[in-house]
Amino acid sequence: MTGGARATGGCVGGRPTRREFLRLAGFGAGALVLSGCGLLSGGRGDLPALSRPAPTGRVLEYTLEAAPTNFEIAGRELSTWGYNGGVPGPEIRVKEGDTLRVRVRNRLPAGTTVHWHGLPVPNEVDGVPHVTQSPIPPGGEFVYEFAAPAIGSYIYHSHVGLQLDRGLYGPLVVEPAREELSYDREYILMLDDWLDGLPGTPEDALGELRGSGRGMMGGMMRARGIEYPNYLINGRAPEDPASLTVRRGERVRLRLMNPSAETVFRFAPAGHRMTVTHADGQAIGPVEADVLRIGMGERYDVLLDADNPGVWQLAAVPEGKRGQARAVLRYRESAEESAPPADVQPPELQGRLLSYADLRDARERSFPDGGLFSGPDRTFELTLSGGMGRYVWQIDGQRYPEAEPLPVREGEWVRVQMRNHSMMAHPMHLHGHFFQLRNGTGCGPFKDTALVEAHMGELAFDFVADNPGEWFFHCHNAYHMETGMARVISYAGGA
Ligand code: C2O
Ligand code: CU
Repeated sequence: MTGGARATGGCVGGRPTRREFLRLAGFGAGALVLSGCGLLSGGRGDLPALSRPAPTGRVLEYTLEAAPTNFEIAGRELSTWGYNGGVPGPEIRVKEGDTLRVRVRNRLPAGTTVHWHGLPVPNEVDGVPHVTQSPIPPGGEFVYEFAAPAIGSYIYHSHVGLQLDRGLYGPLVVEPAREELSYDREYILMLDDWLDGLPGTPEDALGELRGSGRGMMGGMMRARGIEYPNYLINGRAPEDPASLTVRRGERVRLRLMNPSAETVFRFAPAGHRMTVTHADGQAIGPVEADVLRIGMGERYDVLLDADNPGVWQLAAVPEGKRGQARAVLRYRESAEESAPPADVQPPELQGRLLSYADLRDARERSFPDGGLFSGPDRTFELTLSGGMGRYVWQIDGQRYPEAEPLPVREGEWVRVQMRNHSMMAHPMHLHGHFFQLRNGTGCGPFKDTALVEAHMGELAFDFVADNPGEWFFHCHNAYHMETGMARVISYAGGA
């Protein structure tokens, strides 16, 4: 059986300028196999399972202290919960195969856990309360230790209740043993929606959503999401933005991450085009775009060529809400110039928007769909619903924790097909695995979080059950997760 027998799939619509993109993105000539995807198909041995890097023997130790902390945005003192006294928490950076040992101290008045969002870690360190561990009690300590299993841009965050929305998150970067991209500088941008003043704490906001609060806010919030008073990049308000310094002629890598609780952002840099190189940390065939839409829990890595001196807005606009987060890109050559006003929206926001259909796995891996082994071993067809009347959210009519696990067996090829019966988009996130988006190209990107559009939006992905355990699968809207939109994918087996 060869790939020629494939009935469906195969990468279609290769772009004529692909080679230029590769050059722009700095991929070495040998870095990619330019065969059509699917030519490898033919047997079950070809399932694109995760190949784990060889251990380096290096151990990197970090300490995260989760505690109440004072935090200043635009001159106002706020109190919240954060890691090591800041929001975002400290950057964690390792190389693939390194062992990461993180001691988490809980100084909060509530139990907590830390989840390594996107990384296919061993199940026992996945940090999901009551699924993989008991919460670390106030005053307690827990050590997470694992070998970094895959390169990429990740987020660590609390997985208890609505703690994520208080600021308990930070960036985690796993670098390859040898970097294939060439660039001169790198910045991480973390996009956030920030509650303060009204409606108070995340628990207060949930009260409003449930309609127990006073006033009219609840109904509007239920229909459109929470209007946050602030949108931040790297913990900074638009009036006091983070400034990214570059020199003319440099190539800059941005790692864009959305750890926000409730907001999909549209990100666009003024004056520059982006070459998108990674989705959720995994390499894609590089593709150009003006605008990225980043759901909660998603990450994109992009390259910018700094060839347009000035001081430029890097804008992140909350979808369906008012306001804007921003950072500024400042050329050394333009040190004297003042930054654009906080609310100026770059015209690039109206430019070419990257869509999932543009994304292809850089290695053009694919499941051998349509060959002799014609399809997945197991398919879950799931509806997403909720938000009408009572504020509860469901996967296939069930509301976590009163929900049945979804059974899989080790080694299986599993397909998940979702249809969204609700009026909000849901960024669905699978723990412990990368999945391949079925985006019509035959070799979609490998991701761990993907938006299912509102109003009957459909999305499907495939994954190999190659990491035994009990794995959370949920909406990354913190309020949807908290009110039921979660399931456990369980390797317990089943029919
Ligand atoms: Cu980012 Cu279940 O988590
Ligand atoms: Cu949701």
